[in-house]
Amino acid sequence: MDSRPIGVFDSGLGGLSAVRHLRDLLPGENIIYFGDTGRVPYGTRSRDTIRRYAAEDCRLLLERDVKYIIAACGTVSSVAPDLLAALPVPAIGVVESTAKAAAAATVNGRIGILGTAATIRSASFEKALLAIDPNYRITATPCPLFVPLVENGWIDVDDPVAVPMVHRYLTAVKAAGVDTIILGCTHFPLLAPIIRREMGDGVTLIDSGCETATLCAEQLRNSGRLADRDRGETRFYVSDQPEGFSQVAEIFLGHSVEQAVEMVQPEQKG
Ligand code: DGL
Repeated sequence: MDSRPIGVFDSGLGGLSAVRHLRDLLPGENIIYFGDTGRVPYGTRSRDTIRRYAAEDCRLLLERDVKYIIAACGTVSSVAPDLLAALPVPAIGVVESTAKAAAAATVNGRIGILGTAATIRSASFEKALLAIDPNYRITATPCPLFVPLVENGWIDVDDPVAVPMVHRYLTAVKAAGVDTIILGCTHFPLLAPIIRREMGDGVTLIDSGCETATLCAEQLRNSGRLADRDRGETRFYVSDQPEGFSQVAEIFLGHSVEQAVEMVQPEQKG
């Protein structure tokens, strides 16, 4: 048994796709979430900058005595897996569990990957998929403009900006005849209703936040490190003013978070 909180971080709102599932799977856990809203987006930045931010985000969570860290960020998971592996507590990114779920879902072996520019450049999901089956046909598309859409809360299924943007970014995966799409940036599940409508019911969407939450729950359960309480709480930290974050988080999580959001600055080293 371990009553310490689970730490989850992302550049902004995206990691909430992991938190939402974590809350359902492990209602007794306390969760500390850090959204680096003062420095979002990560996905358009250099590898070195992303790695530095990731190290600072992990330190912020470790200072709050977390027992486990989820990098609920496809970008960090893709460019800093070694940093996560070297932490003093167990830590996971989104790549492996998401690739496994896509492999389990595909029937025709054609898989689409949507991610940030840094994630697609790293080919992290592609490598993980091809390690499972080298015959997969993969179509990978960077969708950097999805991130500010989500951060601004333009996620309604009829949003006049989001709908044509989704249509445009999905042209290649549609033409490739994929039956499975990895939402390889944790921001993208917030756009899932629009993506689902664009692709139709025959295509399975794999939510990287959800798959990673499932893996975390499994690992904590199997190692006997769940907390022994019925109802845990979630605290949110952001690195810029909390208002915008709270508004979109409320739409996505379906309840008010305002009282639980606090502003904090990650300590910058180097
Ligand atoms: N949500 C993050 C990801 O999964 C980062 C998006 C960004 O900040 O560019 O890649």
